[in-house]
Amino acid sequence: MSTRKQHLRVAVLASGRGSNFAALLLARECGDVPIEFVLVASDKANAGALALAESAGVPTLVLDPRDYPDRRAFDLALFGRLAESGAELLVMAGFMRIIDGEALTPWIGRMINIHPSLLPKYRGLHTHRRALEAGDREHGASVHYVTAELDGGPVIAQVRMTIEPEDDEQRLAQRLLPLEHRLLVAVVADIAAGKLALEHDTVQFDGRALAQPLQWLDDGLVIAD
Ligand code: GAR
Repeated sequence: MSTRKQHLRVAVLASGRGSNFAALLLARECGDVPIEFVLVASDKANAGALALAESAGVPTLVLDPRDYPDRRAFDLALFGRLAESGAELLVMAGFMRIIDGEALTPWIGRMINIHPSLLPKYRGLHTHRRALEAGDREHGASVHYVTAELDGGPVIAQVRMTIEPEDDEQRLAQRLLPLEHRLLVAVVADIAAGKLALEHDTVQFDGRALAQPLQWLDDGLVIAD
């Protein structure tokens, strides 16, 4: 008999409104994704994600970076608490901090981030503005495994959209957000199903090394041509 648990234990890190976390919560409630939330952690006491977690009965944690002497001390404390939560997967859903390599190392391959650009383009902030300023015709979002390099770990999957003439920074961000939600839910579902893994810096999908990120198309993730 398999000893594999039914539900993957997930902790979420979020600094802001929490719409990506809300999408995961909804997917779990609908029975689409076999996960259990063990913690939502934030560096901001007023993060919307915390209020969402509380109303869903998910334990929360706030650590204020100003209470720690430096980034390393904060990150070691935060990641210590994440380990204590029993999480098997950490999801960065709008967590707007760079993480110390020492805190991160034990989680490599078990921690993902959603970023609003077609990585490796536009790591860091203001991704929508930078795509518009560059005259790009296409924009999108990526989910990647987290490494010590900012927005730099191996990309698991992406969703693409065409930039329209009417798009300004806000309109583009608004149009991308629902696509981000679908992308993140699909990736977490495939991790929970045991389909995705990181081996030697390479994303494995169904036991096969991916040459390019998976693409989210209409109703699911597909292997890119
Ligand atoms: C999302 O757009 C996410 O891609 C971005 O922050 C937003 C959080 O929204 N993350 C990053 O920029 C990380 N580099 P949410 O709080 O509504 O999920």
